[in-house]
Amino acid sequence: SNPTALVAGNWKMNGLTESLAELEALETLVKEGKSADCDVLICPPFTLIGAASVKADAVAIGAQDCHGAVSGAHTGDISAQMLKDAGATYVIVGHSERRADHFENSKIVKVKAEAALAVGLTAIVCVGETEAERDAGKAVSRVVGQVEASLPEGATSAKVVVAYEPVWAIGTGRTPTVQDVAEMHTAIREALIKRLGEDGKAVKILYGGSVKPSNATELMGAANVNGALVGGASLKASDFNGIIDAY
Ligand code: G3H
Repeated sequence: SNPTALVAGNWKMNGLTESLAELEALETLVKEGKSADCDVLICPPFTLIGAASVKADAVAIGAQDCHGAVSGAHTGDISAQMLKDAGATYVIVGHSERRADHFENSKIVKVKAEAALAVGLTAIVCVGETEAERDAGKAVSRVVGQVEASLPEGATSAKVVVAYEPVWAIGTGRTPTVQDVAEMHTAIREALIKRLGEDGKAVKILYGGSVKPSNATELMGAANVNGALVGGASLKASDFNGIIDAY
C-alpha cells in the first residue's frame, strides 16, 4: 500500500510573528477535516518554531536546516536537539538553496540527516537537478547519485522522507511534465529499494517546485509521488489548503 501522503510547507526566509495567524488559519482548515488523507507540516524560520509548535497540533512543525554536530563552537548554527527542544518533529536537509548558498554537498547533507535521526527528528532529504543537468540528459543519474550519497545511515521509512525538487522549477512557475515527475520518482523509488529493501517502498517521496492548487492534483497523481514540498504557495493558508485538497 502507498505511504500516507505528506504535504509540507517551507516558509524559507519568510515569516514574522504576525505570520502565525496564517498557521492558525491553516490549523482550522485542517481540523475541519480537509486533510483527512494526508499529514500536514509547516517549516517556518527558526525564530518561529517555538511559537508555532505551541499554536499547532493538527499541523506538524519542522525546521529548514540543522547542523551536523551535536553541539559546540559553531556560531550561528542550530543543532537538531535544539530544534526538537523547540517543538520541531521534522527537519529539511540539503535544500538546493542550502546547497547553493552554503556550499552544502551530499556528504554534509548526510551528516545533517544523521544528526536529525540521532535525536528522533524525521529528516526530509532534498535532491534535484539543475536545468543544465536536465538539458544534458543527466537528470536521473544526478538525482539518484544525490539520493545515494545523502541518505543517512540508519534510514528507514519512518525516519526519512525524500523530496525531489528540480532546481529550475523552484519559484519559477515552471514544472516538469507529469511523465518526467513519474520517471524521476520511480528512479528514486528503485534507489530506495536497492538501499533499504522492502522498507524502501514505504519511504515518502515528495515533489517540490512551483506546486500550487491548480497543478497539485495532476502532480500528486504521478507514480511514486507521496506528497508535496511547497514554497511560495505555503505562505497563505487558503493557497496551501488548496494543495492539501488534492488528497
Ligand atoms: O521547498 C520548497 C521548494 O523549494 C519549492 O518552492 O513552491 O516556491 O517553487 P516553490
